[in-house]
Amino acid sequence: MKVTVVGAGNVGATCANVLAHRDFINEIILLDIKEGTSEGKSLDIWEAAPVNHYSTRVTGVTNDYAATAASDVVVITSGLPRKPGMSRDDLIATNAKIVKSVTEEIVKYSPNTIIIVVSNPLDVMSYCAYLAAGLPSNKVMGMAGVLDTARYRAFLATEIGVSPKDIQALLLGGHGDTMVPLPKYTTVSGIPVTDFVPADKLEAIIERTKKGGGEIVNLLGTSAWYAPGAAAAQMVEVILKDEKRVLPVCAWLEGEYGQKGLYLGVPVVLGKNGIEKIIELKLDDNEQELLNDSAEAVRSVCAVLDDMKLF
Ligand code: LAC
Repeated sequence: MKVTVVGAGNVGATCANVLAHRDFINEIILLDIKEGTSEGKSLDIWEAAPVNHYSTRVTGVTNDYAATAASDVVVITSGLPRKPGMSRDDLIATNAKIVKSVTEEIVKYSPNTIIIVVSNPLDVMSYCAYLAAGLPSNKVMGMAGVLDTARYRAFLATEIGVSPKDIQALLLGGHGDTMVPLPKYTTVSGIPVTDFVPADKLEAIIERTKKGGGEIVNLLGTSAWYAPGAAAAQMVEVILKDEKRVLPVCAWLEGEYGQKGLYLGVPVVLGKNGIEKIIELKLDDNEQELLNDSAEAVRSVCAVLDDMKLF
């Protein structure tokens, strides 16, 4: 098995590091445009292998896409991260060009790969990679829901005083302040979350989740990496092990949830073919309205991409 992570910044390097520690992949290529960065970080990860007991070989390369040939899965983290005061959407002008050219290089050498996009604005960069890759839509997806639900689950675990492992949650919509957490599908080992958390507290946790990325940006002056890197790594593992897990993923919709021709977060079955099935939940009117609002927000940023005339 071979995995490429494009972008050796904080998120990309964390993703490669988490995957190496999982010890089931033969080879990981970490690629960056800045000479020395991916080589240095990969060497550091490899030097931890004797201590942490893994055999996965992580190799860093500078812009050498030939080295990524025949990757089973490629994670794209390239682009600028947010700074305080910026929304994810402010990044589109720079990141769209980067994601387009990275994707084109990737598919040249790995024409059958599965692509997981992490660059922001996430939903629109997933669309951008889809347009650039020319691959079927089940093979191009974005990582957002795993991260957003992880934040939601972590906040709930703190509030309730239980392990985050035992909190299950689902979330729909774009990776932004319009995301739609679904309390009715949130449980603590199968017990409704509302048995543990009063409505006003739950609402506050949902609001905190929606702004979870911004909370870290304000603390650190740049965007998060431990949770985003781990979330992308989990998706890679689920795909390569063909686990058929049900996870929220940014997927191309062709009418599901009343949305057509749009990348948006929805629950899917993830396996060796990428997105193997989109699960359609029955939403109540309020949930559908929130999802429509989120879709509109993503569409307006897609329009900015279209106006850039890159495709
Ligand atoms: C975040 C960035 C990765 O949510 O979008 O932290």
